[in-house]
Amino acid sequence: MSLTVSPSQAGRPSFSTREFRASLGMFATGVTIVTARAASGELIGLTANSFNSVSLEPPLVLWSLARAAGSLPALSTGSHYAVNILAADQKELAERFAAKRDGRWTDVAWTEGAGGAPLLTGAAAVFECFNRSRYEEGDHVIFVGEVERCNHRADAAPLLFHGGRFYTEHPL
Ligand SMILES: Cc1cc2nc3c(=O)[nH]c(=O)nc-3n(C[C@H](O)[C@H](O)[C@H](O)COP(=O)(O)O)c2cc1C
Repeated sequence: MSLTVSPSQAGRPSFSTREFRASLGMFATGVTIVTARAASGELIGLTANSFNSVSLEPPLVLWSLARAAGSLPALSTGSHYAVNILAADQKELAERFAAKRDGRWTDVAWTEGAGGAPLLTGAAAVFECFNRSRYEEGDHVIFVGEVERCNHRADAAPLLFHGGRFYTEHPL
């Protein structure tokens, strides 16, 4: 008689990091800029496409942040952040908030949201979140936000990201 013992650990990955990235890139996403106001008053914002919905009741969303990200200290400790879902005409902001930190906020129009988080004018949708919980996994931290307020522009065309390039929608 042979006993089947279920493994307690994953096997070693059978693929390269390059293959993993390319495979993940086949999952087309929207693009967000997650924003917050640091305790020092500094405006925080970075481009993130790891956003997803979690729960309707209570209303929860998630996104993940690299442990190496400069925004991690402010976002981990702050009480609130906003997830700004970008419209197609905000591609330049998506690129800017993924590049060097200096000057990200130059000439950016925003209004103040819950906990002081800046809400980007012209975003396709905005989720104002209480910073409910964080889970360290691998080289990222998963943030779960409890949505206190949200709104959207019904007429907005969303910015999309797929295989390292930006797109907008094209109905089939
Ligand atoms: C389309 C796109 C999506 C991205 N998504 C994420 C993400 O979900 N999480 C993350 O940590 N970085 C993501 N990045 C990279 C960050 O935007 C980039 O590393 C940024 O410089 C981090 O800013 P910070 O160091 O000020 O925190 C993404 C970049 C692009 C262009």
